[in-house]
Amino acid sequence: MAKDPKDLAVVEAHDEHDYETGLAVIAADKLADPGIEPHRVRMTDKSVKHEKAAARQVALMFFVSILGSAFAIWAYYAFPFDGVNANSLRINTVFLGLGITLGLFGIGVGAVHWAKTLMPDAEVSEERHLTRGTEDVRAAAVEIIRLADQESGFSRRKLIRRTLYGALALFPIPAIVLFSDLGPSPKDSLRHTMWGKGKLRLTRDPDGTPIKASDVQIGSVFHVIPEGLVDLEAPDLLNEKAKAAVLLVRLDPSEITQKQRDWGYDGIVAYSKICTHVGCPVALYEQHTHHLLCPCHQSTFDLANDCAVVFGPASRPLPQLKIEVDAEGYLVAPGDFAEPVGPSFWERKA
Ligand code: FES
Repeated sequence: MAKDPKDLAVVEAHDEHDYETGLAVIAADKLADPGIEPHRVRMTDKSVKHEKAAARQVALMFFVSILGSAFAIWAYYAFPFDGVNANSLRINTVFLGLGITLGLFGIGVGAVHWAKTLMPDAEVSEERHLTRGTEDVRAAAVEIIRLADQESGFSRRKLIRRTLYGALALFPIPAIVLFSDLGPSPKDSLRHTMWGKGKLRLTRDPDGTPIKASDVQIGSVFHVIPEGLVDLEAPDLLNEKAKAAVLLVRLDPSEITQKQRDWGYDGIVAYSKICTHVGCPVALYEQHTHHLLCPCHQSTFDLANDCAVVFGPASRPLPQLKIEVDAEGYLVAPGDFAEPVGPSFWERKA
């Protein structure tokens, strides 16, 4: 029964429906419904002065949200991540996070404070009904919305309404700004590696000393980088190494395919070390089975059969790097891989 004149409507709880209880256990001493707490009049209900103060506090919180969102946008450009220095990333993240936090905090606290101090606080209970109401019910709903607008002062309180619009309009913008981190476009950098410079010697990782064909014994594995890579500075060094790293192995020439013989040198074959699943370094070689294993998700490649996938989630063989021997007996790569190395990317055809 509605006792408080501020209540919109209070529908008395109906008796429980009759239904089969099935296997459900009905406790004989179930707790009685405690009902709704008696309504307590707030200071903002009694005093115009308190009401106005609360309205200013709500507007202030929405204004704080506006400042926070604007600060996040400013901080994104004022403290950019330079792509190298981890400290610049830390500062960028901290200030960006601080601004977005304030943006959310202001809207959240403002909305709660508005509801708790200025909107009607009468509790209303309503019986469940069919999803679509009758025309009368729908008309009543419209009336309730109109009443809610009137009582919350949404249309009347211009300061609150406008600052809320401002807060909501600005809040998503930091997220939009973050989309610029998706650029710049990699263009065709995913299709080429440093080996494309041509006639580069195969050198040991990490010291960069060149490898002679005679250094490579059957069963031995070399972790290889292109000549000149060690002279690069960060971040180019890591970016290039992440694409150009190679595994070099010597097998019995009678155990490998014709393509491997053509692209290798006397049983020495070179393969991209970048897993075709999601790009981990394939670094484990099982000499007896000629299997290369990726430690991340156990993709297994058959080195004696063009590095075909024999197990795991990788969907393509590791690309082979064509190698030769120069006049001094050092292993060289005459050109780049014939296909992009590593995992699939959106524009890759095969
Ligand atoms: Fe190699 Fe997943 S990255 S199996």
